[in-house]
Amino acid sequence: MHYFIRRWSNLLSDWNYSLTLPRRADEEQPGKISDRTRRVYDRLAAIYPASTFFFHSKAHRKALEMSGIRSGMKVLELATGSGEMFRRLVRANPDGQTFGLDLSPNMAARTQRRARMEFKSAGAHCQAVDACYLPFKDASFDAVMCCFLLELLDAEGIRRSLAEVRRVLKPGGNFTLVVIGQNAAIFNRLYRICGKLAPAFWGRQVDASIPETLKKARFQILADHPVRQGFYPSRVFVTRHG
Ligand SMILES: C[S@@+](CC[C@H](N)C(=O)[O-])C[C@H]1O[C@@H](n2cnc3c(N)ncnc32)[C@H](O)[C@@H]1O
Repeated sequence: MHYFIRRWSNLLSDWNYSLTLPRRADEEQPGKISDRTRRVYDRLAAIYPASTFFFHSKAHRKALEMSGIRSGMKVLELATGSGEMFRRLVRANPDGQTFGLDLSPNMAARTQRRARMEFKSAGAHCQAVDACYLPFKDASFDAVMCCFLLELLDAEGIRRSLAEVRRVLKPGGNFTLVVIGQNAAIFNRLYRICGKLAPAFWGRQVDASIPETLKKARFQILADHPVRQGFYPSRVFVTRHG
């Protein structure tokens, strides 16, 4: 009994379950947010595939279809989560190399394990890495994919991660970005409440500022497509390293 109470109180403190939180995640110290985010997603790694199935799978399909990724490419995915998009990428790229990363070691390990089980001889590699500090050489990828990460980063994290994507992407390569849509008033209200209760898990919506942010980071927007899965809105951007 004591064990369960301790586990629950740890979980709730990591989720920062409180009604008196600051309004925006970026009002907190970045280090603190990413530590909590890592711990929360680490604990959810085993059940996260259900959330991806219900809320993200349609956007994943659309993003892959729009991305221009084809077999033989060297592809990177940031923030793989439990690896559902990563496996789609590996399946679409049997003759190439697919790299993935996630801040949470449990998410990265799960992604790697599932990809190895499903695609025994594919070039698929996933590790626990912070998207703001990519351990790859300049211009080493043909394409980069990133789904539902920017909501969890503060302003400096967004700037850094996009600068890193631009650095590792070959000139002319595509960067496909998926964010949570902000075009449904009731959903937005609900999201703000969830974001206050558990900022390390939900973060905050960033969709409205993304076109400007991408332009500042010197990505040219080639396509911008809304997706809706039930009540859950997403937005897919395909951009080019100009
Ligand atoms: C909302 S989930 C999305 C997972 C997956 N991309 C999807 O579409 O279902 C966000 C993921 O981003 C990861 N993450 C958060 N901050 C990160 C960072 N700074 N670098 C890399 N991954 C990060 C979390 O661990 C989590 O797995």
